[in-house]
Amino acid sequence: MSTDLHTGFDEEMYPYINKGLAGIIAFSTTKSFIDGEKGELIYAGYNIDTLAENATFEEVCFLLWNDRLPNTSELEEVHEKLKKHRALPEPVVNYIKSTDKKAEPMSVLRSAVSMLADSDETKGKFDEALFMDQAISITAKIPTIIAYFDRVRSGKEIVEPLNEGSTAFNFLYMLNGEKPGQHAEKTMDLCLILHAEHGMNASTFTARTVCATMSDMYSSITAAIGALKGPLHGGANTAVMNTLLELQAQGEDADAVEFTKKKLANKEKIMGFGHRVYKIFDPRGRHLQKMAEDLSVETGHENFYKWSMDMLKTMKEEKNIDPNVDFFSATVYYSMGIQPDLFTCIFTMSRVSGWTGHFMEQAANNRLIRPRALYVGEKNLDWTPVEDR
Ligand code: CMC
Repeated sequence: MSTDLHTGFDEEMYPYINKGLAGIIAFSTTKSFIDGEKGELIYAGYNIDTLAENATFEEVCFLLWNDRLPNTSELEEVHEKLKKHRALPEPVVNYIKSTDKKAEPMSVLRSAVSMLADSDETKGKFDEALFMDQAISITAKIPTIIAYFDRVRSGKEIVEPLNEGSTAFNFLYMLNGEKPGQHAEKTMDLCLILHAEHGMNASTFTARTVCATMSDMYSSITAAIGALKGPLHGGANTAVMNTLLELQAQGEDADAVEFTKKKLANKEKIMGFGHRVYKIFDPRGRHLQKMAEDLSVETGHENFYKWSMDMLKTMKEEKNIDPNVDFFSATVYYSMGIQPDLFTCIFTMSRVSGWTGHFMEQAANNRLIRPRALYVGEKNLDWTPVEDR
């Protein structure tokens, strides 16, 4: 007999619980496929390496929304619609301007996305005919929200979105107040492609769960942002950067190997490592590692890359755990001059394409998501009046 010391739960007396829903298949999907043993990731039929080499983020959005690549005119059309929807409704701009400058960017983003519903004429109605436009509108507005908040909190004038350029180009323009070069745009675009979709991760599951109640797309994406914010999910990229900055504060000679071993000895988790599905190096990580290496040399942040590699080797030797997508993306974003607490917002800017794709897939074949919990508390206790307790 095996009994859980914390709950007194006796495994042999009760049905098996898949803690964290590990290994449970809850849906069928055409959005993505992950082979965790081989380190393979496919979006709607296309290997992530093929997409990284050839696609743009806008093509990936179309792919995740339609399960096929767009032709020239379809791509132009989706691009035009995304550009048209970049501007924010006035109440959302006013909200961002009134926000506490020390607010967490992910919290501001979550609230602002929720507010978008109020200005949508469709009121976020649960109607299949409206979903595509809602998906485009939310995807187009998220970069504007992030850039506006970052400028407002730094005391800078907001920079309105352009009616030209890719999502990556326009985001960097609004964030920095100047048009980015081709290299910066390409780097950001590649980051958006790599983060767009990833099976039944916690935020996507959240998005689908809200959709399944026939609530609305704004509620679903707001909830998904809340899930992504956590440090075990998308919040890990900010946590990775904080680790690297902690090492930097120790000086040039900081010892990342000892640092990692000490944390492990204290039973602390090392952020940016480990994954529920991948048993080897996350295929997105290979692209990000190359980008991190090149950018850290270009921008004089070589130490971040060196410390990252020391951590990677130590984690492999000590725990046989590989880095996930968040590990090298931290150095990439930092080298691009982006504030660490914005990293998870950038993840959101991309993953919204996957979330909205899953929303449409769930809505098209819906059933309420409603698992069960095993009750392990007491039953039928006698009532004791409050003064006697
Ligand atoms: N550092 C140290 N030990 C770890 C780590 C880590 N990052 N990840 C897993 N382990 C150990 C863990 O302590 C446990 O050991 P033991 O069996 O001895 O108790 C074992 O590996 C299994 O870990 P788990 O937490 O039960 O595994 P999980 O599948 O529930 O969690 C995870 C997956 C990603 C939450 C976890 O690996 C983790 O906390 N990583 C750090 C946070 C992180 O980088 N998150 C980003 C995830 S990928 C991008 C995304 O989805 O957003």
